[in-house]
Amino acid sequence: PRGTLFVLEDVDSTNEYLLSKIGTLATGDCCLAEYQTQGRGRRGRQWVSPYGSAIYLSMYWQLGSGIAQTAGMSLAVGVALAEALDNLGHQQVSLKWPNDLLIGGRKLGGILIEMRGQFGEAADMVIGVGINVQLPEQQNIDQPWINLNSQGGVVNRNALASELIKVLQAALSQFEHQGLTPFLSRWDRFDRYRGKEVALTMGDKQVVGVCEGIDETGALKLKTDVGIELYNGGEVSLRPA
Ligand code: BTN
Repeated sequence: PRGTLFVLEDVDSTNEYLLSKIGTLATGDCCLAEYQTQGRGRRGRQWVSPYGSAIYLSMYWQLGSGIAQTAGMSLAVGVALAEALDNLGHQQVSLKWPNDLLIGGRKLGGILIEMRGQFGEAADMVIGVGINVQLPEQQNIDQPWINLNSQGGVVNRNALASELIKVLQAALSQFEHQGLTPFLSRWDRFDRYRGKEVALTMGDKQVVGVCEGIDETGALKLKTDVGIELYNGGEVSLRPA
């Protein structure tokens, strides 16, 4: 990819910035910001985005044909990020389906993919990545979280961002051509929940089962009393042993 990089001091959301530029972008173009005033998380949540203390990165990708497989794409992105952090010496990083990056069960980062396009046409994808690097202690975050720099080996955000852009471009290109299949065994290596008993919550419904990894569509495989079941959505939580 060509890869124009927009580096901004502040922005509402790096995802929104690229979404507003669709039509002028090329696959692989990126936006990085020092902070976001309206950072977005999954499920309509806010993404806490203080100044200079994290990676706020978005990448634009046009998928050639058909409606895009957002679910599979975000898992492929998760695998690529986990591998990159592992290669940089952060061996404790793990993945939580569908797309949380964790260290020791605490949230290190997340992925939010937003899409524009009509069924049957090329789809415009914006892949957003947030990684906590050195957030100050007191944050209004509604779950246990962690900084990359709490793990020793202080990270230079510029070096990290450039590495992440490189691996993201490679992973998205591989996903575009081969789908999720080449990422399945790579996912297993980082899967924090594999072989563990979990509860999957969807609205007011809950299923309990043992995590058996993911399938090539990105669905979560749960072994329950009635056999292996596939789930496309919901929130996973670990059940005490
Ligand atoms: C999640 O809820 O886990 C996903 C968080 C994604 C946050 C990133 S930060 C860069 C990009 N811009 C946004 O507004 N959100 C994503």
